[in-house]
Amino acid sequence: MSEPHEAGRAGAEGGCPAGEAPTRRAFLARLSAMGMGAGCMGALPLLEGCASVPFLTPVRTPEGGLRVPLDAFDTAPGVLVDFPEAGMPIYVHRHGPGRFTAVLTRCTHQGCQAEPDGSRIVCPCHGSEYGPDGRVLKGPAERDLAAFPVRIEGGTLTIVTTSRGSER
Ligand code: FES
Repeated sequence: MSEPHEAGRAGAEGGCPAGEAPTRRAFLARLSAMGMGAGCMGALPLLEGCASVPFLTPVRTPEGGLRVPLDAFDTAPGVLVDFPEAGMPIYVHRHGPGRFTAVLTRCTHQGCQAEPDGSRIVCPCHGSEYGPDGRVLKGPAERDLAAFPVRIEGGTLTIVTTSRGSER
């Protein structure tokens, strides 16, 4: 059996209106409507792509980690977590029971903020695309998004930010 087209799957997962695949164009149109233009703008922590991705403010651990409740993934496969130190949020994706990845949304091409968009993370600046685990799917970016280790303890996921995000 063949896989559905990525855009269709993204729309189904992302909750976009019927017939509206989450596209770079739609994202740029939203930016334009907000008077922000379409260039690289640094942090846009509260923007969401077409897919509705929850944005969480984490609880800080004494060591500087970011703690989010696992029930945040009950209604969405991924969440954006505020990370002011980097000027961009971290995207945490649940791949299955107990399997999570956390990646900084800074595009490795020229540093724009990439946005979760269904089953991908898409950069609005020049169209690079990453998988939900941050691996490059489409250039011009050549390197994966910086990844952070995560720990699961009880009903909580902790992003270990002290490692500064590793490149794979
Ligand atoms: S900055 Fe992301 S594709 Fe260029």
